[in-house]
Amino acid sequence: MIKKQMKALLGLSTALMAASSLAGADEMPPERSLSGLNFELIGRADIYSHGSLESYSQAPMLDAMVASGALPAVKDRLPEQPIIFSTGAMVDGVGEYGGVFRHVIGGRPEGWNWMAGQHQGWGGINMAMQECLVRQGPRWQVKAEEQTGPLPNLAQSWSFNADMTELTINLMKGVKWSDGDAFDTEDVRFWYEDNVQDENVASRMAKDSLGGGAALEVIDAHTFKFVFDTPQAETIVENLAYIQGCPGPSHILKDKHPKYNSDATYESYTQAQPNDELAPVVLGAWVPVVHRPDELVIMRRNPYYFKVDESGQQLPYYNEMHFRLSTWGDRTAQAVAGTGDFSNMEDPGNYVEALKQSQDDASPVRANFGPRVLAWRMTLNFDASTAQDDTDQALRTLFREKDFRLALSHALDRDAIGQSVARGPFAYPYIGGFATGSPYYDAASSDYHPFDQAKANALLDAVGATDTDGNGTRNLPGGGDDIMIPVMVVAERSTDTKQLEAVTSQLAEVGIGVIAVPLDETTNDSNYTGGQFTATLRRENVILPTRETCRSWPASDTCPYFNAGGDRLDFETELANKLSMLQASSDAAEQAALARDMQRLVTENAYTIGTIQIPAALLVNKRIKNAHPGTPVFMYEWAEDGVIRERLWTAKTDQVQEVLPGTIAEY
Ligand code: GLA
Repeated sequence: MIKKQMKALLGLSTALMAASSLAGADEMPPERSLSGLNFELIGRADIYSHGSLESYSQAPMLDAMVASGALPAVKDRLPEQPIIFSTGAMVDGVGEYGGVFRHVIGGRPEGWNWMAGQHQGWGGINMAMQECLVRQGPRWQVKAEEQTGPLPNLAQSWSFNADMTELTINLMKGVKWSDGDAFDTEDVRFWYEDNVQDENVASRMAKDSLGGGAALEVIDAHTFKFVFDTPQAETIVENLAYIQGCPGPSHILKDKHPKYNSDATYESYTQAQPNDELAPVVLGAWVPVVHRPDELVIMRRNPYYFKVDESGQQLPYYNEMHFRLSTWGDRTAQAVAGTGDFSNMEDPGNYVEALKQSQDDASPVRANFGPRVLAWRMTLNFDASTAQDDTDQALRTLFREKDFRLALSHALDRDAIGQSVARGPFAYPYIGGFATGSPYYDAASSDYHPFDQAKANALLDAVGATDTDGNGTRNLPGGGDDIMIPVMVVAERSTDTKQLEAVTSQLAEVGIGVIAVPLDETTNDSNYTGGQFTATLRRENVILPTRETCRSWPASDTCPYFNAGGDRLDFETELANKLSMLQASSDAAEQAALARDMQRLVTENAYTIGTIQIPAALLVNKRIKNAHPGTPVFMYEWAEDGVIRERLWTAKTDQVQEVLPGTIAEY
């Protein structure tokens, strides 16, 4: 089973896990796995490595452009040592060029300036454009002895000094942006100093969250180092993967940044690459060339992409990528129908039907469940300093009371929430912290809060939240207003809205009111990262303690987003220390112990109020070659990264016709 293998990766043993049982705490109920993923693990360098080959070739569609002088020859477009994907790790081998890979997504591109925190619509479109210093997605396939950290990417190699306070990174030499401009340390410096460390830019990596605020020193065009105040470890390098460590084109964006242009503002900088201005300059395998709002994004191959196969063919194999702008539910429906090529099946409401259909031999897709990695939680904002009004401030102050949070947690009937989302064995209670599919999860370190309305009522009485006006809803302590908690929810995700309905009626039974605040995902997300919310219920992927750290952990003074004012709850300082120790450790047993402490702190204190967690299944059309059947929907990263799309291909006879044959992005 995948979970066992992942646990093995971190050197967690059953004995270790059993040793840390929480005295007197309620235990997690038994979990039934639905995971059917089983696969062989291989070495890091068995997947890909940097190197050079005698000769290179390119997609035939590019030949005429090279002949006319519109593009340099392929060897001059490639770096000195491109990334070479090994044939041995490809389930179907070296590919054929051409055709289209058809995605369906529920998001809409916010804009192309990802360094300023904008997303491109999710569902794999961000990842098709962005390339990051290191790579996490394919790590699910790496064997335990070689799980020494993230895989290289733009960062070809790196090393620490003896006391682990300096991390020197060697970038690949000769990588070019999709417009032909050189990628170098100036791009990295601009990303880090003028985006990450500029608190006015809402970058995905929070200021000072990299090892407590590293300084960056450029050494030469391809070498730089991070200098830390305290010793770090290999684990910290994971922070430099998608979605945190992905530089943008400084030659385009510097002029639009207020530091370099006195006419620019931070607002104008964020909007510097609007979604109706194409084509943006990228490092990714494909470049968006058409965006028809609410309809379609078309991407075409990036002729400067820096990866090849063992026979020297420049990647990607597909000439074109489509992102149909629809709904997340439609993504699964289209994959099952064969009109879309890919879906992370993650809406349990569709599972039974989708599974039934995919069992049929004639079905265009296969479905394999992985471990439970999709987990939902209610997150309360503890920052009273940014409250919108007195009631909001009183609510946020109440949220700081541990017993209030425990009361909410005991008021939830998680089995009923699960059944409201989908009948069947899919959902399992989530109590916060790591999802059960995480290699860092430990059941015995999870303080479970079973459904117990009497206990919830007693805890609420004890914090002074009694129903002083007798209207059935409890009042804020001191006889204030009714407790009505505004809870943001992503309107277009039915798995989320259904859960909020169940939570609303369950909390009403203990006298707590909920007001649903349905928002589109983009607004929801920017309110969350900007701390502009009272409470929220949504999916958060807490699998690794190094990914999007500010969403869930006190990773810096302004983290997490739900306590950004820095007025930490008592246990948060301890939690912050455990997190930085884990990131600064390279000893698997020590990391596992620290993760157990984190799990205990989060659950004992009901830091967030977990609801349910479910497994997901990856659906890939059978005409797609090289999609490894063991690819998890989410582990080190989403499946769009884990499945290595630049290496996917379709035989000529099965290829879907391109909308824009023979073209590339124009600059
Ligand atoms: C969305 C989808 C996920 C996954 C990610 C990738 O969040 O719901 O299944 O595709 O985008 O970023």
